Amino acid sequence: MIDIKNDPRFRGLEPFPSRVWLASPTMHGDEQRWVDDAILTNWVSTVGKNIDEIEKQIAEYVGVKYAVGLSAGTAALHLATKLAGERLYGMARPNEGTLQGKRVFCSDVTFDASINPVAYEDGEAVFIDTERDTWNMDPEALKKAFEMYPDTKLIVLAHLYGTPGKMEEIKAIADEHGALIVEDAAESLGAKYKLNGKWVETGSLGDYNCISFNGNKIITGSSGGMFLTDSKEDAEKVRKWSTQSREAAPWYQHEEIGYNYRISNIVAGVIRGQLPYLDEHIRQKKAIYERYKEGLKDLPVTMNPFDAEKSVPNFWLSCMLIDEDAMAPQVRGENDYLYRSESGKSSPSEILEAIAAFKAEGRPVWKPMHCQPIYRTHKFITVEGNGRGRSNAYIAGSGVDVGADLFRRGLCLPSDNKMTTEQQDVVIEIIHRCFG
Ligand SMILES: Cc1ncc(COP(=O)(O)O)c(C=O)c1O
Repeated sequence: MIDIKNDPRFRGLEPFPSRVWLASPTMHGDEQRWVDDAILTNWVSTVGKNIDEIEKQIAEYVGVKYAVGLSAGTAALHLATKLAGERLYGMARPNEGTLQGKRVFCSDVTFDASINPVAYEDGEAVFIDTERDTWNMDPEALKKAFEMYPDTKLIVLAHLYGTPGKMEEIKAIADEHGALIVEDAAESLGAKYKLNGKWVETGSLGDYNCISFNGNKIITGSSGGMFLTDSKEDAEKVRKWSTQSREAAPWYQHEEIGYNYRISNIVAGVIRGQLPYLDEHIRQKKAIYERYKEGLKDLPVTMNPFDAEKSVPNFWLSCMLIDEDAMAPQVRGENDYLYRSESGKSSPSEILEAIAAFKAEGRPVWKPMHCQPIYRTHKFITVEGNGRGRSNAYIAGSGVDVGADLFRRGLCLPSDNKMTTEQQDVVIEIIHRCFG
């Protein structure tokens, strides 16, 4: 572990008196008002004005007709994935998932909550490699996947760190193959994308769309999520499934499996108080990104990229990628790591350890799903085709794996709205010292 007191590289720098977070909740006071309102009016339940209000406001903001408040982004993704499965393959028996035996093309560099619902519904996630322009699903790899598995009818994709992916290309490929899209906009609420010349919000780009109000997101309810759609029928179905699938009968009558996934009116009160500040949070996050970009420009690193012509990210997390020739040696096991310091070079492990020693929180780039122990046996498709078994004992080279490369060389920087410019300058200085 780095010993900042005795390591001469860090001389003159003091640890932060309190922790600087990766992304923590930023409250404004209005949240308390709506939580109190729920309590004082006795609407302490999964119905109430706060829920109605945030559903209306989010639908307006994102530009969809219907929003259904749910207990988590994961719940929204589950019901979205199930809905897609039912539309494609029909209603499943109670003990079977709607995607049983079916392949689903999935984002690879994402949080596993994006794609776990494919497993909940008994489907087989096939991971699609990542492109370098936005760090999202690569349309070229997706094309390859459809060449290899043309009967696939569902795509689940996320917009990593609040940066929209190449949706125009991906939607065209999906249309060509008659495939549906589940859009995971959990990290990208407020990010915009220019689709066929028209600016739209992420969360409106798929056939089924999901957002999250988890504590680390751009706005939060402590927890919570939403399903977003233009289809009244889909919104009603998700609402029904999320409240235990009750049929119209005087008693508890069930023809479908149900869930207890509805959002609480208390949680919705926090979100109601946060909503007026969404754009302010995005402005703050953008300023953080730009400050890092400027402060790190003399180092052999780049920031997480985006397409400035076609997208406006919400800049949820600022990340950096170390140039290949400036990477110091680093190895990672399943739960541990080793690295070596080298002059003029560094590694994500070293930088993360250094900023942690100063009480700032960073994180490695999300470990790709195809590298996760749980999905190690699942298919992984790159621009070259099959991404498994790429090396050959008798021939040099091991082919493309963009996701693993981003994981190896990339890290998420402290991106908290409340981080001061002085604190950010110290983080930038620590990173410089790592390369010293
Ligand atoms: C990309 C992505 N998808 C889904 C989720 C799950 O959302 P929730 O935590 O609200 O269930 C998260 C984060 O939590 C996420 O980052």
